[in-house]
Amino acid sequence: MTTIRVDAKREIGRVNPRLFGGFVEHLGRSIYGGLYDPDSSQSDSFGFRTDVAAALKELNTPVLRWPGGNFVSNYHWEDGIGPKEERPVRIELAWHLTETNQVGTDDFLQWCEREGYEPFLCINMGSGSLDEAQGWVEYCNAPVGTYWADKRAANGHPEPYGVKLWALGNEMYGEYQIGSLPPEEYVTKARQFAAVMRRTDPSITLIGCGKDGLSEWDRIVLEGLADVVDMHSIHTYTGSPNYWVNQYAPYQAERALRRMRELIRDVTYRKGLDKEITISYDEWNVWYRYTEGIFAPSDQPPLEERYDLSDALAVATYMNIMLRNADIIGMANLAQMVNVIAPIFTNKDGLFKQTIYYPFQAYATHTRDIVVDTWVHDGPQHELEERPEWDHWLWKHPVADMGPFQILDTVASIDKSGRELTLAVVNHDDQNSQKARVEILESQGTGPVKVSTITGPNPDAQNDFERTDVATQETEVQASELDNYEFPPHSITLMRI
Ligand code: AHR
Repeated sequence: MTTIRVDAKREIGRVNPRLFGGFVEHLGRSIYGGLYDPDSSQSDSFGFRTDVAAALKELNTPVLRWPGGNFVSNYHWEDGIGPKEERPVRIELAWHLTETNQVGTDDFLQWCEREGYEPFLCINMGSGSLDEAQGWVEYCNAPVGTYWADKRAANGHPEPYGVKLWALGNEMYGEYQIGSLPPEEYVTKARQFAAVMRRTDPSITLIGCGKDGLSEWDRIVLEGLADVVDMHSIHTYTGSPNYWVNQYAPYQAERALRRMRELIRDVTYRKGLDKEITISYDEWNVWYRYTEGIFAPSDQPPLEERYDLSDALAVATYMNIMLRNADIIGMANLAQMVNVIAPIFTNKDGLFKQTIYYPFQAYATHTRDIVVDTWVHDGPQHELEERPEWDHWLWKHPVADMGPFQILDTVASIDKSGRELTLAVVNHDDQNSQKARVEILESQGTGPVKVSTITGPNPDAQNDFERTDVATQETEVQASELDNYEFPPHSITLMRI
């Protein structure tokens, strides 16, 4: 019989709450027409959507990355401060759109203050200058008495915002990125930017711009920046119309995290650095359907991916993988949160929660402080065939060599007191339920077990404004039922034991 074993005493890693971060970019309807829409009946006096804010809040994400993404490499933050009617409208070159600058630094940071998010800002290392990056840190973090800090005070916020998280550019390796560079040149430039930013505020956390965790870019950049950065960023997007590839392509993140763990250990050891460097997985998601706007202007609102249950299972798989590698993750950000490859989808007056909303919310809510060892014994497995045509034309994610993969993919975490344990199980089987014995070594509970189950009628099921076919159902079972628990087909289960 299949057994899911949890060794609650064997610690795998501490969970940084920032692992459940999000990302909102000036792109399509993410900010304008999503987070911010003064013309909507749902907006507050600042122009921000209250229904979107409420749905975001329920996701339990602690940190939001802003303003890009590719957008940031042609963004001049000075355009977005001061009276709104005086802010310039610019051609936006990353996504072939127009930037009105109606949401700028003060608008976003004050919204974060009101809503209780930690902001994570990414600087413009494409068309932006050293002075601009230095000035942005000063504007956000310096006490009044100098030029940019006084400007902030004049714009209504005398107290520094105290932004801790700063990324040194976005995807600076890609030719599509404005101002992209070879890795050695990026390192030289990033060290200069890091120096002026740190001299302005020594307390900031700096994140170097990595790639996918698997490339030569990652090795060169980590080697060149290890003494100045606190985190190294990586990005992974996967997805496929083939159900099984969609399920297991997230394992590319497992490969990336394993490699980065070794690379970080190697570099810090060889350089004799007495510091901890972690991974900022600051873009990850399923994304393969809607790629309009990437390479050329489009009539469609860009990147409005409509997710199904298969994608929700893939997102849960990503979360299992992130948690199994929690020891090396300083932050991770679901890309993105509103309308653009996002769990929240709006129209002018309302919203619906896409399928991927539910696993993200369940993990962010129920994951405990420490990941502990879990494994599946004698469980069914699935082998992916090596079929190159399954690789998406945009995102390459061959993972067949990492198989065979478990049909039941699991992770478990406990709280610091060791009393509360959450077990997460993804059943990838597209047809059948799977029975398993859940065994918690040395501490099999006896009380009732709260269970959150996310599933739907079939793997293609989607939600929209009219109907919710995929959502979380809450139930309670007796501990004795864990001796032979039936996990529904194509489902995600989180048990609080
Ligand atoms: O999240 C969408 C885009 O994907 C981001 O702007 C970019 O950083 C990545 O390529």
